[in-house]
Amino acid sequence: MTSSTSGYHWGIEVDGDLVGAISVVNLDGHDAKAEVGDVVARRAWGRGLATEALTAVVAHMFEEVGLNRLYAVHAPGNTASGRVLVKAGFEHEGLAIDHMRCTEGFQDCHLYGLTRGQWRRRADEAAGG
Ligand SMILES: CC(C)(COP(=O)(O)OP(=O)(O)OC[C@H]1O[C@@H](n2cnc3c(N)ncnc32)[C@H](O)[C@@H]1OP(=O)(O)O)[C@@H](O)C(=O)NCCC(=O)NCCS
Repeated sequence: MTSSTSGYHWGIEVDGDLVGAISVVNLDGHDAKAEVGDVVARRAWGRGLATEALTAVVAHMFEEVGLNRLYAVHAPGNTASGRVLVKAGFEHEGLAIDHMRCTEGFQDCHLYGLTRGQWRRRADEAAGG
Protein backbone atom coordinates (compact mmCIF):
# COMPACT_ATOMS: atom_id res chain seq x y z
CA MET A 1 0.00 0.00 0.00
CA THR A 2 1.11 3.57 -0.60
CA SER A 3 -0.55 6.59 0.90
CA SER A 4 -0.26 10.33 0.62
CA THR A 5 -2.36 13.30 1.55
CA SER A 6 -4.31 12.79 -1.67
CA GLY A 7 -5.11 9.11 -1.35
CA TYR A 8 -4.44 5.46 -0.54
CA HIS A 9 -3.61 2.83 -3.14
CA TRP A 10 -3.43 -0.96 -2.75
CA GLY A 11 -2.73 -3.81 -5.15
CA ILE A 12 -4.97 -6.91 -5.17
CA GLU A 13 -2.71 -9.97 -5.32
CA VAL A 14 -3.42 -13.68 -5.57
CA ASP A 15 -0.51 -16.08 -5.06
CA GLY A 16 2.00 -13.43 -6.14
CA ASP A 17 -0.06 -12.42 -9.18
CA LEU A 18 -1.11 -8.75 -9.23
CA VAL A 19 -4.69 -8.92 -10.51
CA GLY A 20 -6.19 -5.61 -9.43
CA ALA A 21 -6.05 -2.37 -7.55
CA ILE A 22 -8.21 -0.40 -5.14
CA SER A 23 -7.83 3.25 -4.25
CA VAL A 24 -9.31 5.81 -1.90
CA VAL A 25 -9.07 9.27 -3.44
CA ASN A 26 -10.56 12.75 -3.18
CA LEU A 27 -9.93 12.79 0.56
CA ASP A 28 -11.80 15.61 2.25
CA GLY A 29 -10.50 16.15 5.75
CA HIS A 30 -13.13 18.69 6.73
CA ASP A 31 -16.04 16.42 5.91
CA ALA A 32 -14.09 13.21 6.73
CA LYS A 33 -15.13 11.63 3.44
CA ALA A 34 -13.45 10.11 0.39
CA GLU A 35 -14.15 8.24 -2.85
CA VAL A 36 -13.28 4.59 -3.38
CA GLY A 37 -12.72 2.81 -6.70
CA ASP A 38 -11.42 -0.60 -7.74
CA VAL A 39 -10.44 -2.62 -10.77
CA VAL A 40 -9.81 -6.36 -11.23
CA ALA A 41 -8.22 -7.99 -14.30
CA ARG A 42 -10.74 -9.82 -16.45
CA ARG A 43 -8.97 -13.15 -15.87
CA ALA A 44 -9.80 -12.88 -12.15
CA TRP A 45 -13.41 -11.65 -12.35
CA GLY A 46 -16.18 -13.38 -10.43
CA ARG A 47 -14.05 -14.77 -7.62
CA GLY A 48 -15.14 -12.27 -4.99
CA LEU A 49 -11.83 -10.40 -5.06
CA ALA A 50 -13.25 -6.89 -5.48
CA THR A 51 -15.78 -7.49 -2.72
CA GLU A 52 -13.12 -8.86 -0.37
CA ALA A 53 -10.76 -5.95 -1.08
CA LEU A 54 -13.49 -3.31 -0.75
CA THR A 55 -14.76 -4.81 2.52
CA ALA A 56 -11.24 -4.67 3.99
CA VAL A 57 -10.58 -1.14 2.75
CA VAL A 58 -13.91 0.12 4.15
CA ALA A 59 -13.03 -1.27 7.59
CA HIS A 60 -9.57 0.30 7.42
CA MET A 61 -10.86 3.72 6.41
CA PHE A 62 -13.53 3.81 9.12
CA GLU A 63 -11.60 2.13 11.95
CA GLU A 64 -8.01 3.24 11.40
CA VAL A 65 -8.19 6.42 9.33
CA GLY A 66 -11.36 7.73 10.98
CA LEU A 67 -13.40 8.71 7.94
CA ASN A 68 -17.13 9.26 8.37
CA ARG A 69 -18.29 8.63 4.79
CA LEU A 70 -17.13 6.71 1.71
CA TYR A 71 -18.72 7.06 -1.69
CA ALA A 72 -18.27 5.54 -5.14
CA VAL A 73 -19.68 5.97 -8.62
CA HIS A 74 -20.05 3.74 -11.65
CA ALA A 75 -21.28 4.19 -15.21
CA PRO A 76 -24.89 3.01 -15.80
CA GLY A 77 -23.92 -0.14 -17.73
CA ASN A 78 -21.42 -1.35 -15.15
CA THR A 79 -23.73 -3.61 -13.15
CA ALA A 80 -20.96 -5.71 -11.61
CA SER A 81 -19.48 -2.64 -9.99
CA GLY A 82 -22.79 -1.74 -8.37
CA ARG A 83 -23.20 -5.31 -7.16
CA VAL A 84 -19.76 -5.19 -5.50
CA LEU A 85 -20.65 -1.94 -3.72
CA VAL A 86 -23.96 -3.33 -2.43
CA LYS A 87 -22.25 -6.54 -1.25
CA ALA A 88 -19.78 -4.38 0.69
CA GLY A 89 -22.63 -2.50 2.39
CA PHE A 90 -22.99 0.64 0.24
CA GLU A 91 -26.42 2.10 -0.54
CA HIS A 92 -27.49 3.39 -3.94
CA GLU A 93 -28.11 7.11 -3.47
CA GLY A 94 -29.20 8.05 -6.98
CA LEU A 95 -28.02 9.06 -10.42
CA ALA A 96 -25.47 11.87 -10.44
CA ILE A 97 -26.10 13.89 -13.61
CA ASP A 98 -23.06 14.72 -15.78
CA HIS A 99 -20.80 13.41 -13.02
CA MET A 100 -17.90 12.32 -15.24
CA ARG A 101 -16.30 13.59 -18.43
CA CYS A 102 -15.41 10.83 -20.92
CA THR A 103 -14.58 10.81 -24.65
CA GLU A 104 -18.27 11.11 -25.59
CA GLY A 105 -18.80 14.06 -23.24
CA PHE A 106 -20.30 14.31 -19.77
CA GLN A 107 -21.80 11.10 -18.44
CA ASP A 108 -24.29 10.33 -15.67
CA CYS A 109 -23.10 7.95 -12.93
CA HIS A 110 -24.79 5.92 -10.24
CA LEU A 111 -23.76 7.21 -6.81
CA TYR A 112 -23.32 4.91 -3.79
CA GLY A 113 -22.48 5.86 -0.21
CA LEU A 114 -21.71 4.30 3.14
CA THR A 115 -21.27 6.09 6.47
CA ARG A 116 -19.39 4.81 9.48
CA GLY A 117 -22.69 4.71 11.39
CA GLN A 118 -24.38 2.57 8.73
CA TRP A 119 -21.34 0.31 8.57
CA ARG A 120 -21.26 -0.15 12.36
CA ARG A 121 -24.99 -0.91 12.50
CA ARG A 122 -24.60 -3.54 9.75
CA ALA A 123 -21.65 -5.13 11.61
CA ASP A 124 -23.69 -5.24 14.83
CA GLU A 125 -26.63 -6.81 13.00
CA ALA A 126 -24.37 -9.39 11.32
CA ALA A 127 -22.97 -10.28 14.74
CA GLY A 128 -26.52 -10.81 15.97
CA GLY A 129 -26.56 -7.68 18.14
C1 LIG B 1 -16.32 -4.33 -11.09
C2 LIG B 1 -15.16 -5.30 -10.84
C3 LIG B 1 -14.09 -4.58 -10.01
C4 LIG B 1 -15.68 -6.53 -10.08
O1 LIG B 1 -14.58 -7.37 -9.73
P1 LIG B 1 -14.80 -8.89 -9.24
O2 LIG B 1 -13.61 -9.31 -8.45
O3 LIG B 1 -15.19 -9.72 -10.40
O4 LIG B 1 -16.08 -8.72 -8.27
P2 LIG B 1 -16.72 -9.81 -7.28
O5 LIG B 1 -16.38 -11.17 -7.76
O6 LIG B 1 -16.36 -9.43 -5.88
O7 LIG B 1 -18.30 -9.53 -7.42
C5 LIG B 1 -18.87 -9.32 -8.71
C6 LIG B 1 -20.38 -9.38 -8.57
O8 LIG B 1 -20.96 -8.79 -9.73
C7 LIG B 1 -21.80 -9.75 -10.35
N1 LIG B 1 -21.79 -9.51 -11.79
C8 LIG B 1 -20.78 -9.69 -12.65
N2 LIG B 1 -21.17 -9.32 -13.90
C9 LIG B 1 -22.45 -8.89 -13.78
C10 LIG B 1 -23.41 -8.37 -14.69
N3 LIG B 1 -23.11 -8.20 -15.99
N4 LIG B 1 -24.63 -8.04 -14.23
C11 LIG B 1 -24.94 -8.20 -12.91
N5 LIG B 1 -24.05 -8.66 -11.98
C12 LIG B 1 -22.84 -9.00 -12.42
C13 LIG B 1 -21.22 -11.09 -9.96
O9 LIG B 1 -22.17 -12.14 -10.11
C14 LIG B 1 -20.89 -10.81 -8.49
O10 LIG B 1 -22.05 -10.78 -7.66
P3 LIG B 1 -22.51 -12.09 -6.82
O11 LIG B 1 -21.39 -12.45 -5.88
O12 LIG B 1 -23.74 -11.63 -6.12
O13 LIG B 1 -22.78 -13.18 -7.81
C15 LIG B 1 -14.55 -5.80 -12.17
O14 LIG B 1 -15.59 -6.32 -12.96
C16 LIG B 1 -13.84 -4.71 -12.93
O15 LIG B 1 -12.67 -4.47 -12.70
N6 LIG B 1 -14.53 -4.05 -13.89
C17 LIG B 1 -13.92 -3.02 -14.69
C18 LIG B 1 -13.46 -1.81 -13.87
C19 LIG B 1 -14.55 -1.21 -13.08
O16 LIG B 1 -15.68 -1.15 -13.55
N7 LIG B 1 -14.22 -0.74 -11.88
C20 LIG B 1 -15.15 -0.04 -11.03
C21 LIG B 1 -15.18 1.39 -11.43
S1 LIG B 1 -16.30 2.27 -10.44
